[in-house]
Amino acid sequence: MTTRIIGTGSSLPKQTVTNDDLSKIMDTSDEWISSRTGIRERHLAKEETTASLSVEAAGKALQNAGIRAEEVDLLIVATITGDYVTPSTACEVQAGLGASRAVAFDINAACSGFMFALHTAHAYLQTGIYRTALVVGAETLSKIMDWSDRSTCVLFGDGAGAAVVRAFGEDGTEKEGMGKGGSEKGCGGLLAFEQGSDGFRGKVLACEGRKNHNPLVQNPLVPSYVGMDGQEVYKFAVSTVPASILRVLDRAGVDAGEIKYFVLHQANIRIIQSVAKRLKADVGKFPLSLDHCGNVSAASVPILLDEMNQKGMLEKGDKIVMSGFGGGLTWASAVIEW
Ligand code: ACO
Repeated sequence: MTTRIIGTGSSLPKQTVTNDDLSKIMDTSDEWISSRTGIRERHLAKEETTASLSVEAAGKALQNAGIRAEEVDLLIVATITGDYVTPSTACEVQAGLGASRAVAFDINAACSGFMFALHTAHAYLQTGIYRTALVVGAETLSKIMDWSDRSTCVLFGDGAGAAVVRAFGEDGTEKEGMGKGGSEKGCGGLLAFEQGSDGFRGKVLACEGRKNHNPLVQNPLVPSYVGMDGQEVYKFAVSTVPASILRVLDRAGVDAGEIKYFVLHQANIRIIQSVAKRLKADVGKFPLSLDHCGNVSAASVPILLDEMNQKGMLEKGDKIVMSGFGGGLTWASAVIEW
């Protein structure tokens, strides 16, 4: 049995904010931001919510897969910026899509979130518990940014990406009893996965939750924002990501030279260039969305994947690597044959 991605979708807020726009409201410049990060603009939510972006991205992914919402057995949303503590964003998406049969829950693994959710869905599909899963990465990070801290707020954006995944037999056909759409659209399988966590270094990229304000402690209700030691995060990323990719390639029995694209979490162009160099891979094999999306945490990888899919960059049989890394600290990589 294998797990295949049979449809992708994405959604970005209508409002685009360029680096020049930001330079009008804070002491920064297009030159500083773009030269250090590669980011030129990002989309920020005004009317949109994490759930509404998720519903739109997921709806497009279902359409792309050619399946109905009622066929989804499992719905996982990866996010650190859900609109509610409860219900989960996944439950909101279930209602928004009419995915009446789905079991729905969220995963928090920050920028690795989509990859963690994909691996979780893969495990459910491989054991035969479920046949069809909808995996979403979605964020409205702009609501947890300190907009007076230029060192963090310029880096992030809002958006959502989604993928429909389905279990297929060894012969590449859908498992008996599955809905229509998979066998024609199904193209490629998840060859190998590897992931990890390092909670010991978690505080280098953090956003504190609500403090307890019960009568015993009486903390004031002060909102908290994303804080980051940028240089430590950089060091973590450029050492951990190439090692993770080499491990997953080894696990898949695939040579780095066979990989058509490396679809990485879009944090920073310098991290991507450094990973390419360490893997001795052509940087042209690392497609980008960070220039127009910024860092969208859990949504980065599925938004980029959908953009590539919509542009026709992915052909049956292509081997790609997907890799997420970030808060937790966490990381996860997969080799996929499209
Ligand atoms: N505009 C202008 N100046 C700025 C800005 C800004 N937006 N932000 C910071 N500065 C200033 C600082 O105040 C500082 O000035 P000073 O020297 O007078 O004190 C100077 O620029 C350098 O600040 P640093 O924080 O040291 O900047 P650095 O060169 O480390 O670059 C960056 C920051 C781009 C974040 C870098 O650390 C980096 O690439 N980190 C990688 C981690 C990353 O990309 N994180 C994103 C999210 S995490 C994730 O998704 C995994």
